[in-house]
Amino acid sequence: MTTKDKVLRILEENKGSHISGSKIAKELDLSRNSVWKAIKQLQEDGHNITAITNKGYRLDTDNEILSSHSIYKHLRSDIFDIDVYSVVDSTNSILKLEAEKGAPEGKVVIAEHQTKGRGRRGKSFFSPESTGIYMSLLLRPKLSAYESLSITTCAAVAVARAIELNSDKEAKIKWVNDIFIDNKKVSGILTEASIDLEGGGLKYAILGIGINVFSPAEGFPKEIEGISTSVFDKKDYSSEPRGKLIADILSIFMDYYKDIQKKSFLSEYKERSLILNKEIDVIKGPNEILSAVALDIDDDFHLKVRYANGEVEYLNSGEVSIKKSSNN
Ligand code: BTN
Repeated sequence: MTTKDKVLRILEENKGSHISGSKIAKELDLSRNSVWKAIKQLQEDGHNITAITNKGYRLDTDNEILSSHSIYKHLRSDIFDIDVYSVVDSTNSILKLEAEKGAPEGKVVIAEHQTKGRGRRGKSFFSPESTGIYMSLLLRPKLSAYESLSITTCAAVAVARAIELNSDKEAKIKWVNDIFIDNKKVSGILTEASIDLEGGGLKYAILGIGINVFSPAEGFPKEIEGISTSVFDKKDYSSEPRGKLIADILSIFMDYYKDIQKKSFLSEYKERSLILNKEIDVIKGPNEILSAVALDIDDDFHLKVRYANGEVEYLNSGEVSIKKSSNN
């Protein structure tokens, strides 16, 4: 933990009240000047810290900048090692470098802003500053590459349930990896795995989760306007909802992940499905879209569909979209 992080942790523990520079210095065994420098850096990072002569420093209660402490304080497990950055290209890319260097399972990278947030199928993930959650979790599971779809589906359940715990919204899952509120996408998941070519298992997997938490200041870009939404559309949340939301996602995910091969989250995954028993379009290729009905999700999370000609197929990945007429 850097000096800056240590000072921020103390300010967060005293959020809304003043604490003197000498008290912080004593607690951290630092000089008052080092504390002052850390406070300056935190203010430059955008934290709302006021300084009053003879009273000390105060982190304002409306400070909404993410910090590792704002997440740890809601977590019961100590298996997570969380780093929060203000800006990165992609949290998945940063964590991949850490994974290659041998970082252990439970390492988490979070950013306030991503300049090259990645989605599935080479798409980008809109990651504006301060209004979302962009996080990646390193896993080293004993799973085959084939079973790795369970990581994404387990995370989808965790994200959907955590959203409902922290808001008054109903969260649905659009097979495979998208979370929807009111028929609009609020979150996407990108799991990237490194395969052990000799053993056929996973060397590691990086679970990347992106969530639109607040409405972006400039609105959503044209391409996704109308099909994207955020968890909170007005100020109807308690302070610092992102820290709690992240902690809930990590806790729910880890509860299932311990026994991921049991897939005990399958029933909830199906119950939350946005597309089951609906008419959908299956996008087979750039010029091939087939109408189908989504019949079921099997034990391996394959989507069972029946096409208009009566043929049945189990899809293991691919893009599907819900038909406008069956949106309700
Ligand atoms: C999708 O919607 O297709 C998946 C989006 C996944 C976005 C998250 S944000 C954190 C992590 N870092 C990335 O670059 N992508 C994932």
